[in-house]
Amino acid sequence: MKYQIRPLEERDIAAIVQGEKEIFGESLGYDMISTDLKLNPYAHYLVLEIDEEVGGYLGLWITGENAEIINFYIAKKYQGLGFGSMLLDFAINLCKMSKVKSISLEVRKNNLPAIKLYEKFGFVFSHVREAYYRDGTDAHVLIKELEVKE
Ligand SMILES: CC(C)(COP(=O)(O)OP(=O)(O)OC[C@H]1O[C@@H](n2cnc3c(N)ncnc32)[C@H](O)[C@@H]1OP(=O)(O)O)[C@@H](O)C(=O)NCCC(=O)NCCS
Repeated sequence: MKYQIRPLEERDIAAIVQGEKEIFGESLGYDMISTDLKLNPYAHYLVLEIDEEVGGYLGLWITGENAEIINFYIAKKYQGLGFGSMLLDFAINLCKMSKVKSISLEVRKNNLPAIKLYEKFGFVFSHVREAYYRDGTDAHVLIKELEVKE
């Protein structure tokens, strides 16, 4: 299995939209991702390429001292192999290099695999956003504080 983490390119977007629909039942959408890629200087989209296909991705906005994980998945067939940890670790290191002090994200309150992964990487529960998702599920906001070395 050959894999690498690299920045998102326009040619990846169709596969990502498809992957998001399969996993979340909905997608950020081609246009939003494409516009973010071209016009949003704060957006960082990372692709995990496995055997020349999109095996996962993580979208991150870095705005000064704060960063937010916008979306993150590993394709079903590659889950449970450590790739999610690898991609999250890469994103956290990118934040550290950018002198980010705090990373936040929303996760469905019943998404235990993701919550366990985030906790493993030092994210802690901050607060609930009630009925945040379209189906009425609450989101848990998790935050990881980073030590910035001057
Ligand atoms: C959450 C997700 C990204 C994890 O990716 P992954 O490649 O499967 O994760 P890893 O193999 O690196 O596992 C890392 C840790 O996640 C947790 N985890 C992963 N799958 C789990 C499961 N089925 N049940 C419980 N914990 C799980 C464990 O803590 C695991 O660490 P461990 O192996 O030491 O126990 C992946 O399951 C996924 O894409 N899920 C659907 C989309 C999603 O929920 N995205 C997050 C939105 S906020």
